[in-house]
Amino acid sequence: MLDSIRALWRSSKRAARVSPEARTPAKAQPGHAAPRTSQPAPLYGPQKMPVSAEQVAAMRAEVGAAVAQGIVAQPTEAQWAMILSSHPATCVVAGAGSGKSTTLVLRVVFMWCHLGIPPEDMTVISFTRASCEELRHSLQRVLSFEPWRQRLAPEDAAHLEERCRTLVSTFHAALGRVSRRVWGRAEWFDLIEPNATLRDERADDLDNPVLGGPLTKGQRDLLNTAYRSLFNEDRVFRQHIIALLRHECDRHTLLRRNSAEVKHLQLASERDLELAQRIQARWGKDWVLPGVDPTPFVAFRANNLPFYANGRIIKTGMPIFLSLGGMKDDKFLFSKDDRIGQGKRAFSVVGALTIRRQIIERYCDREVLHLDHTEKLEWLRYRLEHLADEDFRNVSAPAFDVQLRGEPKAVGVVEAFYAQANFMESLGLDVAQACQRAQGQLASGSSEWHFCAALARFWPSFEAQLRSLAVPMRRFNRAFLDLGEQAPTQPAVPADALRPFTHLLIDEFQDISPQIVSWLRAMQRRVRALGAAPSLMAIGDDWQSIYGWRGSAPDLFIDFARHFPVHPQLGGPLQCRLMDNFRSVEPILRDAERIVAAVGVKVDKQAQPRRRADPALDHGVRLIKGVQVRRDPKAVVAAIHEQLAFVRSLARSDKNKILVLSRSNETLNTVEKALRKAGGVKPGEVRFETFHRAKGLQGEVAILCENCVYEESHPLRNAIYAASGLFRQSYDEAARDEALRLAYVAVTRGIRRVLWFVDQPKGASALLPSRP
Ligand SMILES: Nc1ncnc2c1ncn2[C@@H]1O[C@H](COP(=O)(O)OP(=O)(O)OP(=O)(O)O)[C@@H](O)[C@H]1O
Ligand SMILES: [Mg+2]
Repeated sequence: MLDSIRALWRSSKRAARVSPEARTPAKAQPGHAAPRTSQPAPLYGPQKMPVSAEQVAAMRAEVGAAVAQGIVAQPTEAQWAMILSSHPATCVVAGAGSGKSTTLVLRVVFMWCHLGIPPEDMTVISFTRASCEELRHSLQRVLSFEPWRQRLAPEDAAHLEERCRTLVSTFHAALGRVSRRVWGRAEWFDLIEPNATLRDERADDLDNPVLGGPLTKGQRDLLNTAYRSLFNEDRVFRQHIIALLRHECDRHTLLRRNSAEVKHLQLASERDLELAQRIQARWGKDWVLPGVDPTPFVAFRANNLPFYANGRIIKTGMPIFLSLGGMKDDKFLFSKDDRIGQGKRAFSVVGALTIRRQIIERYCDREVLHLDHTEKLEWLRYRLEHLADEDFRNVSAPAFDVQLRGEPKAVGVVEAFYAQANFMESLGLDVAQACQRAQGQLASGSSEWHFCAALARFWPSFEAQLRSLAVPMRRFNRAFLDLGEQAPTQPAVPADALRPFTHLLIDEFQDISPQIVSWLRAMQRRVRALGAAPSLMAIGDDWQSIYGWRGSAPDLFIDFARHFPVHPQLGGPLQCRLMDNFRSVEPILRDAERIVAAVGVKVDKQAQPRRRADPALDHGVRLIKGVQVRRDPKAVVAAIHEQLAFVRSLARSDKNKILVLSRSNETLNTVEKALRKAGGVKPGEVRFETFHRAKGLQGEVAILCENCVYEESHPLRNAIYAASGLFRQSYDEAARDEALRLAYVAVTRGIRRVLWFVDQPKGASALLPSRP
């Protein structure tokens, strides 16, 4: 079966165009977690899991009874193959709505109640906390069915909720438990904010590439400390940062000419000379130093508007800005009542200083010195007398925004470092090495080239800082790597901490990253070294892989046999294919398949609709053009009311009547607000989710509110992809495919109808036929 997948893959148009070198497995390089090269030792087999005919017969009989009581639906034969598998490595290739998650629950029941595998030896993994919650809930409900409950050990039956809670886990929670046993308790950098609500919001944002996971203040502070000290200590790093800043400044002065910020700049510029003089007056006689010209002068221009430094170092011309923080002798130089400017234009001096600081950071493309404390004058005097000018190091590290090409928005430079480093780590790469290799693929001197050079120096320095804290801090990605196959020293994991890794069942496997694959293999190799026989059931739909932007790769699922080696006696992993679709009517499925047809690298399959459509009422995707939902949500609100009337008229409906889906939270908020204002909706009837968060959900009608298209080019990530040797496609090609898959996920949420509002059809929506 797997050969047929490979054949399908090879025959796909895009794969046919891939160069022969790209198709051969990449060579293992230091810092790489995947792919595997020479024939690795088998991880599974040769023994199968002992499954007897009696166990199978008993399970079938009990499922029959559960079906009769409406506890579960009657599994199809394909689903039975998954439930009863005796193979230690099973790969379940399925379509959307084919009952993957539902059948996974029955597989766990079979393993626990019939094969006698205790929950301590299993882990069921899903990606988000919401989907874990749903799985736990179904598992607990199904295991409460009397024949199965009776088969549980009395201790397990008495603590069923707790057992299910531990059994079903995200990758990160499972990693957290092992890390604690290996290295003891520690703070996680990734969870710095001890505020549950904030963490929840962040977790949601993590699912949305438009927002990206924003850092908390605590995280940003640690990153900034590392950044500032490296900027002062490392001349090469400083040069790259300044070059990067110049690139950004050029971009800003060009791009922002007509933006609101220009107005802001104009006001700031008009008061700038007065501001410089006011500060200077407060510093008074302190501000007279040999070697310094203390006369304000135009140090730089932003959008051609002048901005003043307080003076300059005579020998080098380096501008000096005073009191950017507004402090002298540990007191604020100005109170909040101090104003600058007259009448309507009067503005607080403290506010004006803050704005000036931001303007300098953003727009000044030369090295400057800023002195925010009189003590710094002493330091400056010392330097001017004793050291060569080029040794100036205490130039404050600039805090500025970077928008790498291909990224949806500009973020602070340390945030950009953090995001791209995490992406590289998810691919199982060592950040410094990956950056160095990627530089070879980038235009020398480009913004991305400097970014890579700076990140290669920053990341090891940041990691060293985390290690040196009084209470050391750990990062999830570092822990995955340190427990993975490529770790230079393999930490010993206590046998009882390894037990849950004996039998792994992983839902949504298409979204796994190379780094996690390396970690899982390393954990199961440890299990095997203890003499136990590990097993893995990977359940997924490569058409629904939507986390490539975060470093996941559908290739790992598509090429399962290569990444999870099975003993030759077993002739490869077991393939189960679930092609029935229990969710959506046929017109929806066929439209969804039209979209996926344009995906370059995929497994070919066709869903068999099991739900009968009512041609008078149900329909595929109805595209409504010419609507900019964020500007004017009226049309969507009207559609929600109309579709609600339809769903309310049905004898039976799903718990989600209407799912409103969009790529960004902003659009969802706009519609939600407009709907609240319009009224007419009962609580729980309409659910709002981003395309990413909607995975695994369903609703009678799905209403999509935004195009789903990737039109960018991301030179940095293309370079990382190319340098890693892991992928057949460039990052841009993979991201274009991913936008189509995201649209596939969104469309297949609908049970009976899908409406899609777009301004102009683009990307996925352009692949759909126009219908009245
Ligand atoms: N054998 C079956 N008979 C009838 N209905 C079924 C069967 N198996 C699953 N279903 C129903 O199909 C719907 C989709 O199931 P489920 O969410 O498990 O699919 P999935 O493959 O995990 O979907 P997704 O790809 O969105 O994650 C659910 O309403 C479920 O109850
Ligand atoms: Mg599912």
